[in-house]
Amino acid sequence: MTPSDVKATLSFSDGSPQMELPLYKGTIGPDVIDIRKLYAQTGKFTYDPGFLSTASCNSTITYIDGDKGELLYRGYPIEQLAVNCDYLETCYLLLYGELPTPSQKEEFVSRVTNHTMVNEQMQFFLRGFRRDAHPMAVMTGLVGALSAFYHDSTDINNPEHREIAAIRLIAKMPTLVAMAYKYTIGQPYIYPKNDLSYAGNFMRMMFATPCEEYKPNDVLVRAMDRIFTLHADHEQNASTSTVRLCGSSGTNPFAAIAAGVACLWGPAHGGANEACLNMLNDIQQMGGVAKIGDFIKQVKDKSSNVKLMGFGHRVYKNYDPRAKLMRETCHEVLGELGLHDDPLFKLAMELEKIALEDEYFVARKLYPNVDFYSGIVQRAIGIPVPLFTAIFALARTVGWIAQLNEMIGDPEYKIGRPRQLFVGATKRDVKPIAQR
Ligand code: CMC
Repeated sequence: MTPSDVKATLSFSDGSPQMELPLYKGTIGPDVIDIRKLYAQTGKFTYDPGFLSTASCNSTITYIDGDKGELLYRGYPIEQLAVNCDYLETCYLLLYGELPTPSQKEEFVSRVTNHTMVNEQMQFFLRGFRRDAHPMAVMTGLVGALSAFYHDSTDINNPEHREIAAIRLIAKMPTLVAMAYKYTIGQPYIYPKNDLSYAGNFMRMMFATPCEEYKPNDVLVRAMDRIFTLHADHEQNASTSTVRLCGSSGTNPFAAIAAGVACLWGPAHGGANEACLNMLNDIQQMGGVAKIGDFIKQVKDKSSNVKLMGFGHRVYKNYDPRAKLMRETCHEVLGELGLHDDPLFKLAMELEKIALEDEYFVARKLYPNVDFYSGIVQRAIGIPVPLFTAIFALARTVGWIAQLNEMIGDPEYKIGRPRQLFVGATKRDVKPIAQR
């Protein structure tokens, strides 16, 4: 971190001594005020629920400029990566900091491909779940269970363990998601096929049956690969921060990633694409395009607690750059499948148009986020709605593991241990039950 010549001075209105706080400069983005010595010197904590003004770490992986609507992985704009690179090249970039050369790519793809199978015993573990369990409940369990199946890569302090755990997680997530899906529909699991691409193999494990040959459609495979690339990392979001905090105790990588999966499930985070499609279905059932006005009215009424899912973002206060790319993919996929007249897609386009012109959304800088379109694309590909977030988890695994490994390698890394502003009862005596 580069110290700045500028210092911040903290003063108190009660005459307590001032404190000078160092500032650090990033390569881009806001400077940070270093408050690590604040408690020792003043006996005070800072208060920032939701981390609105707090940098929880320093990182070299992903940068977002929310006002410009810019997303960079290791300095490369997402728009260029999405067009020029495939998902596994993006994984390599996130993990190791540079785009691979052709031979590095070949070696990496071969390493990932050779780890796609999961321990055969895992299907018996999966069988313990109800068939109607939510895929994210199953995925939280399956990813956590990897630590019980791969004992030889659970030492987070061993760089070789971290490396093999990273490859295993990236390689096995598609297999696990596809297994979770096949289990819910009662079809046989389809084993990975190593001559297919990462996304092509996933589609085959999802949609093939042992009875017929399955040929993945190139347009759909490209769309799936783009979904993976666009979701690969997103700096210190809730699930990534969860993975870092969980991993900071020294727990094994599979357990830390399982914590990330659990966090991602929430509708304010990864669950938004599922919630968005459910919302579109609800509006459709209410009467479709004609009912958009009523729905928007409900959204604007704070007491209704209804949100326009797939709109708004904590960081992007301009268009989400991933949404632009996903919108493009959405048109490509619907064109390929002849679904441009699909009523749900028409409804989504109309909803987007109305919301983008509405004063409520304009004033609050609420634009469509990636989830607004990714749900429509996945539905068109044939992915059932409850599986959407599991696919987000599959794609985000590389970001989680890159961030976790970065944290472990950081000499300033400590167990995460936030403090609190206590506003509960002060010390009091327990009365025996008869006197309460
Ligand atoms: N619909 C209606 N109003 C909204 C929405 C929305 N989707 N999002 C924000 N607002 C309003 C909010 O009520 C508030 O209004 P006011 O200032 O009058 O109180 C204002 O906009 C600011 O919102 P906020 O809740 O302070 O913003 P936040 O940064 O805490 O929340 C968010 C960000 C993503 C949780 C929120 O926009 C949201 O719930 N969106 C819908 C869910 C969604 O699509 N999430 C996916 C995020 S992208 C995927 C990912 O990266 O995980």
